[in-house]
Amino acid sequence: MALREIRIEGDPILYKVCKPVEKLSDRQKVLISDMLDTMYEANGVGLAAPQVGVLRRIVVIDVGDEHGPYILINPEIIEQDGEQTGSEGCLSVPGKAGTVTRPNHVVVKALDENMEEQTYEGEGLLARAFCHEIDHLNGHMYTELVQGDLVDVNYDDDEEDEDGDTSEE
Ligand code: NI
Repeated sequence: MALREIRIEGDPILYKVCKPVEKLSDRQKVLISDMLDTMYEANGVGLAAPQVGVLRRIVVIDVGDEHGPYILINPEIIEQDGEQTGSEGCLSVPGKAGTVTRPNHVVVKALDENMEEQTYEGEGLLARAFCHEIDHLNGHMYTELVQGDLVDVNYDDDEEDEDGDTSEE
């Protein structure tokens, strides 16, 4: 298990557009494994490569569903519909959350860790996570989309978030 340092809002790397992965290198396989470790250690539901300082189009997501974790390489949203408005957070903006409207249903096309094309469908939190993480690959932070003010949240590291209404991505 290896943890990577999570870049925090204001770090210029978070605002850059990431490059596609053409052939998954051994270094990138290690990166994916480290991203999963880092996401779980931080109790996040998603993490994008630029958040650990790598400008490649790689995302990991685990919303606790039966599929997870999702490993998305060069992901693209190919369909979206509906609307959800809810609280959103980001591991790069620790201790904060804000209200963001996202599509409630998205279909994502991506390569998996074997560089095979997959299509995933997400609703609710998973749809939100797909949108949030893919935004990171394009240099966008959820804070650009927040309606109203960011609010302070206190995550208790020793307990699961029983409310489950804010997820850090
Ligand atoms: Ni994020």
